Amino acid sequence: MRTPLNELELDELIAQPSGRLVEFFKRLPGDLSILGANGKIGLSLSLMAKRAVEKAGVNKKIYAVSRFSDPAGRNKLEEWGIETIACDLNDREQLLRLPLTENVVFMAGRKFGTDGSEALTWAMNVLMPSYCAEYYKNSRIVAFSTGCVYPLVSKLSGGSVETDHPEPVGEYAQSCLGRERVFEYFSQKNNTPVLLLRLNYSTDLRYGVLSDIGRKIWQEETVVSGVEYFNILWQGDANNYTLLALDHCTSPANYLNITGTEILSVKDVAEEMALIMGKKLDLQIPSADTSYLNNSGKAFGYFGTPSIQAKELIRMQAEWIMQGGRELNKPTHFEVNNGKY
Ligand SMILES: NC(=O)c1ccc[n+]([C@@H]2O[C@H](COP(=O)([O-])OP(=O)(O)OC[C@H]3O[C@@H](n4cnc5c(N)ncnc54)[C@H](OP(=O)(O)O)[C@@H]3O)[C@@H](O)[C@H]2O)c1
Repeated sequence: MRTPLNELELDELIAQPSGRLVEFFKRLPGDLSILGANGKIGLSLSLMAKRAVEKAGVNKKIYAVSRFSDPAGRNKLEEWGIETIACDLNDREQLLRLPLTENVVFMAGRKFGTDGSEALTWAMNVLMPSYCAEYYKNSRIVAFSTGCVYPLVSKLSGGSVETDHPEPVGEYAQSCLGRERVFEYFSQKNNTPVLLLRLNYSTDLRYGVLSDIGRKIWQEETVVSGVEYFNILWQGDANNYTLLALDHCTSPANYLNITGTEILSVKDVAEEMALIMGKKLDLQIPSADTSYLNNSGKAFGYFGTPSIQAKELIRMQAEWIMQGGRELNKPTHFEVNNGKY
């Protein structure tokens, strides 16, 4: 895969729907609301949904819903021809004015700044989902969760699977389990078809674990990590899986891990990037037995394996940084191993 030369090319690459998604959209009934669309994933997910509708030749409305605290995202969505609705989902009066659609992707939430503002994190990650799950009780809902609901595990385990018992570390991860339980509860109570996506680190070149590591190397700073291993998934694949997951919503709720096929070592990835960039590597990784690792075998069984594998992503990321590609300046904090964000 050629590294995109600019953001225009990158946005289109990430938003390319797979043939499977286009076929699915031909038979998916109803319109789609994307709640929390103005974030790192939501913008490109909305564009992919729009491209899938166009390619499928169907008449389906896509509503991108967010507070739009950063108006740049709203401008981008509107330039792409996507209908935007400004709404604070934590305000029930505003929520009740949203169009009720047959399909919903829920991705609003809060992670960083949790340490010290725990109450706000719980309101955003548990209260807000409860309002939305109740309001959209007659929809099918794919809701984002995170691989952080599992305990940190050893590489030898092959990664956590959906049947493993959640043991979230720290209040952010605990609030995410709360979000899952709220969706699970309303799915049971109202027979709402739900799927909870446990994602580990999406990578879009402007942000992600590879960007975090690569920028440090390029700027000749020390790469410090409290974990030795990690998983990543190309954002284009994350978007495809998310929209295809609308076909696997069930009551009681279904759970699905989504990440790449490989468990990557911080050291190996950093060495490869330093080699591509022609930089000397300064690495500080205390020996750590466990990391957040997901096993996505179930998702691969549903949708197939990712279209871009880690080796290619590492090269693309290094080239993107070397050519001066934009960074969102939103670090993943993948290196955190104590749940404090
Ligand atoms: N990115 C990853 O690799 C990753 C990994 C694991 C899990 N996840 C989960 O996946 C979801 C999406 O990820 P992301 O990286 O795109 O997150 P993000 O960048 O934080 O985007 C979420 C967006 O939701 C919107 N939002 C927040 N509160 C809202 C409210 N009260 N009402 C309406 N909109 C609200 C915000 O936009 P406005 O300020 O404009 O409202 C925000 O930009 C999150 O729940 C995250 O926990 C992501």
